[in-house]
Amino acid sequence: MPRGFPFRPARFAPDWTVQTDARYQLVRLNNGICSVRSLVDAETFHPVVGPVAEAEALYVKQLQLRERLQNHAGEFVIWDVGLGAAANALAVLRATRDIVCQIRLFSFDHTLEPLEFALKHASELGYFGGYEKHLEKFIRAHRVEFSEGPQSVNWEFHHGDFPTFLSNLKLKTQNSKLAPAPHAILFDAYSPARNPAMWTLPLFTDLFRQLDPSRPCAMPTYSRSTILRTTLLLAGFFVGVGHATGEKEETTIAANDLNLLAEPLGRRWLERARRSHSAEPLVEPVYRTAPLSAASWEKLSRHPQFASPAT
Ligand SMILES: C[S@@+](CC[C@H](N)C(=O)[O-])C[C@H]1O[C@@H](n2cnc3c(N)ncnc32)[C@H](O)[C@@H]1O
Repeated sequence: MPRGFPFRPARFAPDWTVQTDARYQLVRLNNGICSVRSLVDAETFHPVVGPVAEAEALYVKQLQLRERLQNHAGEFVIWDVGLGAAANALAVLRATRDIVCQIRLFSFDHTLEPLEFALKHASELGYFGGYEKHLEKFIRAHRVEFSEGPQSVNWEFHHGDFPTFLSNLKLKTQNSKLAPAPHAILFDAYSPARNPAMWTLPLFTDLFRQLDPSRPCAMPTYSRSTILRTTLLLAGFFVGVGHATGEKEETTIAANDLNLLAEPLGRRWLERARRSHSAEPLVEPVYRTAPLSAASWEKLSRHPQFASPAT
């Protein structure tokens, strides 16, 4: 996860360069762990605790993946938005490989370059162990199937602009069976200041429409900002406080089922959002901050999450 939703600039890596090519760098964080940095986007993928610790805290633990998989029959569908150097995807696979399960993983990105770069530096990054051959095939064929003990994995790559992919699904110009509705989403885009197109209300509205109401789905993401939370709520999600990750004291988890949230946001949060200077969702891929409009406040205050006086 890159950082800073939203309102601090993209992080300058507290690290030093180990290896570089034209577009990506391998950087060593203060704790000695290596991470990939995009030079073009000026963002380090996992900037504080490193790829493995962050992916485990933010996604594996928070999604309660092991527990959900142990109690799940049939395919468990995961959307990995922002494949990057595949640290999140591999953390999920590694953490669940002793469980009898069928994982159907869809990774989305508009480039495979960070993964190709990271694979060249697999030994320094340290999280590819055992998956290198599968990833080489994945890069060539954009899909790979394999089994690790009791776990079977069917992994596909969707190459392209993610907002466009979603809006095409909405227009039904593609077969939505290309990517069945997820049970879990790993959402890891660059920060909104760098990459506002990945944080708009239309994008999250389109994403929410792809969920199946009868298939509980949760989506953690690294920010705890008010604007992210109002955007998710207005897109239709229920939204809760997310775990600390080592970098952030608090993150955010969204879901289409309130039962997947340990700590849903309540009315106190809603009142704070009303007073915030930065709560109005982005409707275009242009980064800016603004307080909630009257129309957004009206809709937000009627969200079913806040319907009960107990919230
Ligand atoms: C922070 S990196 C993801 C790191 C990755 N999850 C990992 O574990 O290594 C963000 C990724 O989002 C991708 N991305 C940015 N904008 C995108 C877009 N419009 N459509 C699809 N992918 C995009 C970037 O190419 C980059 O690989």
